[in-house]
Amino acid sequence: MRVLAVGGGAREHAIVEALTRSGADVFACLKNRNPGISRTAKGHLLVDENDVPKVVEFARANRVELAVVGPEAPLELGLADGLEAAGIPTASPRKDAARLETSKSFMRDLLSKHRIKGSIKYAIVDDMKDLNDAFHELGTSIVVKPTGLTGGKGVKVAGEHLMTKEDIVAYCNEILSKRIGGSATVVLEEKLVGEEFTLQAFCDGKRVAPMPAVQDHKRAHEGDKGPNTGGMGSYSQGDGLLPFLKRPEYDAAVAIMDEVVEALRREGSEYHGAMYGQFMLTRDGPKIIEFNARFGDPEAMNVLSLLEGDFVRICAGMASGSVSKADVEFMRKASVCKYVVPEGYGTKSVAGEEILVDEAAIRSRGALLYYASVNEKDGKVYTTTSRSVGIVGIADSIDDAERIAEDGIGHVSGRIHVRHDIAKRAMLDAKVARMDRIRRGEI
Ligand code: AMP
Ligand code: GLY
Repeated sequence: MRVLAVGGGAREHAIVEALTRSGADVFACLKNRNPGISRTAKGHLLVDENDVPKVVEFARANRVELAVVGPEAPLELGLADGLEAAGIPTASPRKDAARLETSKSFMRDLLSKHRIKGSIKYAIVDDMKDLNDAFHELGTSIVVKPTGLTGGKGVKVAGEHLMTKEDIVAYCNEILSKRIGGSATVVLEEKLVGEEFTLQAFCDGKRVAPMPAVQDHKRAHEGDKGPNTGGMGSYSQGDGLLPFLKRPEYDAAVAIMDEVVEALRREGSEYHGAMYGQFMLTRDGPKIIEFNARFGDPEAMNVLSLLEGDFVRICAGMASGSVSKADVEFMRKASVCKYVVPEGYGTKSVAGEEILVDEAAIRSRGALLYYASVNEKDGKVYTTTSRSVGIVGIADSIDDAERIAEDGIGHVSGRIHVRHDIAKRAMLDAKVARMDRIRRGEI
């Protein structure tokens, strides 16, 4: 089958590899010269991924029969709608369903209207004079978010980024006056305490088929310090759970995602595509932090590297309205993904620097390699301001997978930065101990 894949990061490289493994001829639209994608695809176009008419034209010209969109920005601009209008079944949500990610106020109101478990206290403010009512209702132990997309950089947490009530007021004012995230609306939420995890699911409009749970690490530096980033690395466990996440808690998160898909269907916005739930595991079970209308990055590298089922059939099923559970099979192995990023990533990346990636050596250590936001020129690989290469280890235990990923990383060099602490035993044990204390009510 001829399949369109949109996007040029490591998430999309993983998507392209999984499609190709399942027999597809892939045609890719991407803005950077990602050597992993351009080499694997049968054809590709360097293009602004948000240019809906150009992407649709490329898809038509290459007679693609199915499409998958990696990033969220083109979904907000109606790329899935445009592809479907051109008769191309698309395994990514249309603009109205993608509001689950693109409008945090829509998401919170949907959960509240349909009384979905995992909802939290929130207030939507679009006028400064309503802020006091929100404080009255929520207190000041809160999280402040612009409603729209900000590339993961708009969320500020009281006690971390906002130290006083005055800071909260000032940030709300800034969001409203500068229309941060594209509109003058602020979402205030109660601040949750717990351990975060990601649950992704294949959705066909009616049901969800869940994938293994993953934990991402957003902070740029070891020990979860430094600025928030797109994600520095992630791991998953062989049984689909996480060291601190128990089966009933995983099941509760799946049930929440099922309810969300049903709520969207009832609202007339059927959700077709991968859905990403970011949860906080609290003393009272999993609570929703946010939803994304796509695979996670890096989380896609974990789950798609483990996928044994036929990804093309799964995508066709998501688009057409029936994913067969028989296709959704994952290896019962652990995965660890670590991102190699440019020095300074999260604050000021050193972009345009050459990095050396010894692909043969990485493979010989048993690691997988996914190129991210890099550019290839004359056989050399150059950084951009974003993440560079994802290295994945797969093994029976998280510890072994972590060692394989580290072995692979040893064969990437240049002005790079890596969080070596991700998925190391000390960190995993600390998370389990912390979650136990939360469950006992000690934190
Ligand atoms: P987001 O961009 O929505 O993923 O948020 C970025 C980070 O802010 C998350 O990974 C959480 O660590 C934190 N965060 C967001 N919402 C909440 C919340 N309601 N309570 C506690 N932390 C939150
Ligand atoms: N890993 C975070 C994201 O994909 O949004």
